[in-house]
Amino acid sequence: MTRNEPIGGNSAAAIAHPNIAFIKYWGNRDPHLRIPLNSSLSMNLGALTTTTRVTYSPDLEVNRFQLNGKDIKGAALARVSDFIDRVRSIAHLEYRAMVISDNNFPTGAGIASSAAAFAALALAASFAAGLHLDEKSLSRLARIGSGSASRSVPGGFVEWQAGETDDNSFAFSIADPEHWELIDCIAIVAEGHKPMGSTQGHALASSSPLQAARLASAPQRLDLCRKAILERDFEAFARVTELDSNLMHAVMMTSTPNLLYWQPATLAIMHQVMEWRQKQGVEVCYTIDAGPNVHVICPVYNQTFITQRLENIPGVKFVLNSPVGGPARLI
Ligand code: PMV
Repeated sequence: MTRNEPIGGNSAAAIAHPNIAFIKYWGNRDPHLRIPLNSSLSMNLGALTTTTRVTYSPDLEVNRFQLNGKDIKGAALARVSDFIDRVRSIAHLEYRAMVISDNNFPTGAGIASSAAAFAALALAASFAAGLHLDEKSLSRLARIGSGSASRSVPGGFVEWQAGETDDNSFAFSIADPEHWELIDCIAIVAEGHKPMGSTQGHALASSSPLQAARLASAPQRLDLCRKAILERDFEAFARVTELDSNLMHAVMMTSTPNLLYWQPATLAIMHQVMEWRQKQGVEVCYTIDAGPNVHVICPVYNQTFITQRLENIPGVKFVLNSPVGGPARLI
């Protein structure tokens, strides 16, 4: 049966946060369903938000997408439109959708805008279509838009169980946002779009001779990182987080073609952070996603001091600060 009248109203809005992974996801078992090759672990970034409204209407002939006030066409529209069509098909809905999204942070600055985007979109699109999905189903749905979006559905510190199928690859909270007052001081080195997005990047991972070693040791790092978070053990957390980031970048640098996301300022920040922790005993560590910006993680009491020091490093344009954030939610 095809339903023409969406149940529960034809419009809904949701808010979601990006997340920063401490144990990274890089490489897919199934690229279409975005089933990853290893489980990963992250925290949501509460100060950064994507707000998305989805409205299904009989007046629309195609799905439309507006981001930060601009009509989006091309590949980005196709990705959103495919996602909407998946939700429409689950809900047996004929109406097309208008998607209006706003980010309060720079899009394409290497702060995982797709994670917040697809978490907010999954929630708004499914609810407006009359589907009331539980957290697990929502995480699975968001994952199909962007793998890391599965981790922006639950709140706080979040683990994404890799699984092997669509059913058992989803994310869940391991601790609430209040569990540990960590701050992500994101040192922005370059804005603008990355040379290669993560969807294509994942496909290159298996061409690196280092990927097998990274994957073999990932479960052990996940256990260490989860334990460090649950015990609020900063030193153990810092060691495993930097190691995991370095391993992912080693895979990136040694794939064919190779990916080198770091800029000179990226490396300068890494050296400084290592010195602050190892020589000066400051609780601070770094992790880097598929871009040149550095996520510098520290307890809240070091936030001002670390931010000021980062701002003084040549090549750092500005620093965005975020505490741990909550789940994706309707507004
Ligand atoms: O969700 P994607 O396809 O944008 O991949 C995210 C990849 C990294 O940000 C580099 C790592 C991660 O686990 O978030």
